[in-house]
Amino acid sequence: MPESIKTGERLIVALDMKTLDEAALTVKKLAASVRIFKVGMGLFTSYGPDAVKMVHDKGAKVFLDLKFHDIPNTVAHAVRSAAKLGVFMINIHAMGGSDMITAAAAAAAEAAGGSDKKPILLGVTVLTSMDQAAIGEIGVERKIEEEVIALARLGKDAGLDGVVASPNETSLIRQNLGKDFIVVTPGIRPAGAEKGDQKRTMTPADAVRAGADYIVVGRPIIEAKDPVEAAKKIIKEMES
Ligand code: C5P
Repeated sequence: MPESIKTGERLIVALDMKTLDEAALTVKKLAASVRIFKVGMGLFTSYGPDAVKMVHDKGAKVFLDLKFHDIPNTVAHAVRSAAKLGVFMINIHAMGGSDMITAAAAAAAEAAGGSDKKPILLGVTVLTSMDQAAIGEIGVERKIEEEVIALARLGKDAGLDGVVASPNETSLIRQNLGKDFIVVTPGIRPAGAEKGDQKRTMTPADAVRAGADYIVVGRPIIEAKDPVEAAKKIIKEMES
């Protein structure tokens, strides 16, 4: 894991709310302790770049989670546009193949104009909502773990900086792809927290121990009675 990331900068809070006002309230409350917020397709479809600007205006960084997957030229266009918004992290589906990933990586670098502002480009390997039967349905015969590693390796070779991975894939990816490949892990639940619809969860401390560079947390923070306290507790748990 890149040693330069401080513990307090490893937490990404998912802004999974319906309105920009609600999201802005959460960012306002948390911005003193949380550095990165995830803007997903719900908020972005409703509010577009205003959602990104709202986070930037409060002094924090954005993980733009739009999971692009299209022909290389179209994805390159989308990545270029996202990079121009000044976001910290973006993602694409590794299943789009090496040409699409290469085009996306080139577009991210080009939009940043050689500065260190290039967004971190992450790949999604196999959606965590898919099991062996579901990937079989779309013609994938390999075991899920093999497919995840194969896609992560393909992505790394084509220019991805890292992947989004479920907690139980994190250590496997870390072992196979090396220490400099970034791993972002959702599905995090602090000890004793509600799991909601997440089936395979891990605590913040265990995720970092398994090799996660960043963890994504939504409901355990945004639905907490005291979101600031919940975020601080998670940061502390990671430090342990
Ligand atoms: O509320 P919760 O902590 O489960 O939110 C996790 C966030 O991470 C959500 O925004 C969800 O869409 C996202 N995510 C995930 N699993 C993935 C990829 C993204 O839970 N494999």
